[in-house]
Amino acid sequence: MGADRESTERATPGQTAGSCAPEPEPVLIAVVAASASEPLLPSLRALGRDPEAQGGAQTGIPVRIEIQMFGPEEIGELAGWPVGLMVVDGDSLGGPEIVLSLRALKDHARTPILLVASGEAGAVRRAACALGATEVLIRPLDPVELQMRAGALIALSQARHEAERVTRAMTRHVAEVVAESEAREREIIQRLMLAAEFRDDDAGDHLTRVAGCAIAIAEGLGLSEREANDIALASTMHDIGKIGIPDSILLKAGPLSAEERKEMQRHAERGHRMLQDSPSRLLQLASEIALTHHERWDGKGYPQGLAGTAIPLPGRIIAVADVFDALISERVYKAAWPLEKARGYLVEHRGSHFDPSCVDAFLSRWQDILDLVQDRPTSSRAA
Ligand SMILES: [Fe+2]
Ligand SMILES: [Fe+2]
Repeated sequence: MGADRESTERATPGQTAGSCAPEPEPVLIAVVAASASEPLLPSLRALGRDPEAQGGAQTGIPVRIEIQMFGPEEIGELAGWPVGLMVVDGDSLGGPEIVLSLRALKDHARTPILLVASGEAGAVRRAACALGATEVLIRPLDPVELQMRAGALIALSQARHEAERVTRAMTRHVAEVVAESEAREREIIQRLMLAAEFRDDDAGDHLTRVAGCAIAIAEGLGLSEREANDIALASTMHDIGKIGIPDSILLKAGPLSAEERKEMQRHAERGHRMLQDSPSRLLQLASEIALTHHERWDGKGYPQGLAGTAIPLPGRIIAVADVFDALISERVYKAAWPLEKARGYLVEHRGSHFDPSCVDAFLSRWQDILDLVQDRPTSSRAA
């Protein structure tokens, strides 16, 4: 019986012979019944021919109807099929329990099921409802009522499918817009990083190594890959505030005077101000890192003198990464430290300058740090 299919259709509004508009997909009505109940078919066929009785007439959704019969032994074939409506002859199948089997089929948890059955109306409806039927018609059947109920259920099914299609399309669109906006944010950050590099020739690789150390520490602390990558990317702007510092201080070979040191320290707040108030999540994070990367765990840092966990975690992570890389790099005012000596400095200042857990995370990733420094060596580091 499953192979007996027939199709009825009508021209949809605005669609004429020879029109280029795509044909709407037909709505499949699965009639589940033993062969003895085929009397259901004439009314359903009329549904396809009578515009007034169609779901399409009520919703404006163009409808083509395709009817296919399934005997009791063919029910399994319905699994996964895009069925718009199931019309079930409970009488010919030994009772309404057949609804339970149909509901259990793959992809049919929400397919409208119209059960046709005999018996006391209230009792049949209660039983059918408990089994998962959407609608019940009690014999003797009124063909017009069957058409109207079936038409309404098809309209319901069409509207649900349309809503799901729109939701899927919207979800895809939102994901694309978010990805595009994130890509733009990343590009802006990379361009700002380039600006910092132009200002200070040594900054480029320093920023890349600090970002690499930041990922290692963040992962060592158990942060997610996304959180670690965000902190690393945002960290590339930690010294963006140095753009406002005169060369005579920034590039000074000798030690800084107290006044010059004060001016140098202003880069934290200046960077924070440059980046704050952005709706961008990454720029907000960068602003926070710019402000807090010179704070110390013991509260003796600057600019706010925050202590312990009052310092945001990204700032505590970058404090470790930034100092370590500064130590192993040559500067106009100092030689590069050997790696082991710089590592010893972090251990020595664990719990005073640095968050102990960040130092521990750094040490747990020591091999990764060595690989990173090998890939991006400082310009002149002592062996
Ligand atoms: Fe800094
Ligand atoms: Fe730095």
